[in-house]
Amino acid sequence: MKPLFTLCFSLLLFGAPSVVAAEVGFAQVEPLFQQHCVKCHGAAKSLGGLNLEGRAAVEALIEEGLLLPGDPENSEVFARLTLAEDDKLRMPKGAPPLKAEEIDAFRKWLEHEKLFEAGDAPAPAAAAAAPADEAKEPTPDPADPAAITRIEKAGGVALPRYAGSPLLMISFPSQPANTGDDVVDAILAVAPNVCELSLARTAVTDAGAARLAALENLEALHLEQTAVTDAGVAPLAGLPRLRYLNVYGSKVTDAVLEPLAKNGALRRLYVYETPVSYAAAKKAMASRPELEINLGWNHPEVARERLTQEKERLEAEKKAAVAQLEEAKAQIESADERLTELAKELEVAK
Ligand code: HEC
Repeated sequence: MKPLFTLCFSLLLFGAPSVVAAEVGFAQVEPLFQQHCVKCHGAAKSLGGLNLEGRAAVEALIEEGLLLPGDPENSEVFARLTLAEDDKLRMPKGAPPLKAEEIDAFRKWLEHEKLFEAGDAPAPAAAAAAPADEAKEPTPDPADPAAITRIEKAGGVALPRYAGSPLLMISFPSQPANTGDDVVDAILAVAPNVCELSLARTAVTDAGAARLAALENLEALHLEQTAVTDAGVAPLAGLPRLRYLNVYGSKVTDAVLEPLAKNGALRRLYVYETPVSYAAAKKAMASRPELEINLGWNHPEVARERLTQEKERLEAEKKAAVAQLEEAKAQIESADERLTELAKELEVAK
């Protein structure tokens, strides 16, 4: 069995870049939280006191005991998914249960002892920068307090990345639908300070999004569930520090992948529920192996790839098991033969 394991393992590590790796990591389940949970359990609205939006929020659930790494069945976040359909406690509340393969993804993720890998991009709520980046972290002058007040007046929240940092994480959690391009001026007034920005679910348009290209120190940008198209996103491809871009549920197309893939800083791109095609995503990833483009767990091609990988793995395991069985049969046969001989010899030795 050992060589088989090694084979699977090396396929995992060195296989062609895939849209969704065979392993289920946080990158694979985050879209599921976004799709099914965040409207009730997000930064803006946390029903039952639960926030499932972004890595930092989900990671905090380990401390709270709602996520038990290595123990899906006893993890509240998972257990709630598998209750009977008419159980009042079942999640997502008021919606049909998740599909079997989605539940399975959560299970596989929670079976890991380490739920988060270093490469998982932090959402704007995440306070700590990746340690490797800290050395070369930009140090702009602190933002003008009057400019921060302006952002707050526009419904925004601006938090230092960590205590004393001049870098800001800005989001517009309350009434995102009433937040439009007019907040961009307030954001640009602190341009060098913005390291993370969320305009998710706001009414921002291409005109507003394109102006964010001036945020020279921006590392993570959330534009998911907005009306932005390629015209608003392509100008952002030149952002020199952009590592994480989420445009899930927007209108971006294949055309935006080429300029984005040329951005050497970009590591994670979320495009599920957009017109972006599987073929274009694969091509872009082939050109930039360290870029992961996430098309969503449910994308038909992604699902097919995942199922094919599982099928191949099981077939290989089965083959190995059959070989073991054959070996065991041969052992039984030769033991039987010898036992017959021994019986005869014992008879003679009486
Ligand atoms: C339509 C709104 C809604 C959606 C969507 C929703 N929830 Fe909930 N959730 C609630 C409410 C309300 C509560 C508090 C009442 C309760 O505990 O049942 C809750 C409570 C919970 C709790 C218990 C929290 C605690 O502190 O014990 C968990 C865990 C949970 N939800 C997980 C999820 C997950 C995972 C999803 C997505 C798959 C989800 N929920 C989707 C409304 C929702």
